Amino acid sequence: MTEILEATTGNIAKAAARLKEGGLVAFPTETVYGLGADATNDRAVAAIFEAKGRPSFNPVIVHVNDRAEADRIVEFTKSAALLASVFWPGPLTLILPRKESSGLSLLTSAGLPTQAVRAPSHPVARDLIKALGKPIAAPSANASGSLSPTTPQHVAQSLGDRAGLVLAGGKSAVGLESTVVDLSGPVPVLLRPGAVTLEDLKMHVGDVQVELEAKGEKPKSPGQLLRHYAPKTPLRLRAVDVKPGEALLAFGPIRFMGLQGGGAAKDMPPEMRMNLSENRDLTEAAANLFSMLHQLDARGFQGIAVMDIPETGLGLAINDRLRRAAGAQKA
Ligand code: TXA
Ligand code: MG
Repeated sequence: MTEILEATTGNIAKAAARLKEGGLVAFPTETVYGLGADATNDRAVAAIFEAKGRPSFNPVIVHVNDRAEADRIVEFTKSAALLASVFWPGPLTLILPRKESSGLSLLTSAGLPTQAVRAPSHPVARDLIKALGKPIAAPSANASGSLSPTTPQHVAQSLGDRAGLVLAGGKSAVGLESTVVDLSGPVPVLLRPGAVTLEDLKMHVGDVQVELEAKGEKPKSPGQLLRHYAPKTPLRLRAVDVKPGEALLAFGPIRFMGLQGGGAAKDMPPEMRMNLSENRDLTEAAANLFSMLHQLDARGFQGIAVMDIPETGLGLAINDRLRRAAGAQKA
């Protein structure tokens, strides 16, 4: 049974404690209910993807209470500052360059250098962010492929136990996901229409391009605006050994893995190998995926050999990202 709790002060404190421990909490916003996690905790953010059963890691929105909190995690452009001053708190999400010092899990942006941020206006969402004292990462609180939830009952029907705890705060007034605008490039680009309309945006920042994302939560097709994380170093997937000049991104024990030309992977220098999860735990692997890829990529190896990861549960999303990252270099 899903635990649905009225959003009293005591229950909001309980929900914040759950988030602090790395747990998930579904909570009301004015647009739709969100499935929240501490945005700075890799494992907690990985658990969101696990709960939703998403076959890929789409970047998720990080929720803050005001401009000052957003300033700690992203670089504001002039247009972004203007839009935030007019529409926050409210149903507008801004995509902006993420600061190196943001402290956010790289999973929230699926490895991209940009970050989606939004200040919701729903008082329960605001109180929860305040009680946690950190940004909350939250996609809509529904299983992948089903409709976005606007009541606590929708959340319970769609996610069941996987929602963790559901804070009930009535029906979402807007009932549609927030407008998403990418302000990381030279011209603002509307990626998802919502209650803040194209006309509203144009009134404040002039020219706005429109590049709507694919409907639903299917992996985006090439040519669509959502870019994918691509390391500089070539990836070799489903590797059963390591070639000279390659680093190793392992999954599980490596005691039987060899080096081409002789030797054992376990004797490689520590800076040449990282393990997504020694215990073959897919949630742990998802939590480590982008940060380990970034670290190995920065060290200038000729290649990265990536061990096989099973195509089950979160393994689907991990493999989807690895394949895109491997394919991107050939293009
Ligand atoms: O109303 C909402 O926005 C709700 C509530 C809970 O706040 N949240 C929501 O999150 O709809 P989600 O994860 O279902 O949708 C986030 C959207 C996706 O379409 C995603 O592709 C896009 O924002 N997005 C997030 N980060 C992005 C980035 N760095 N670049 C491009 N698109 C991004
Ligand atoms: Mg959604």
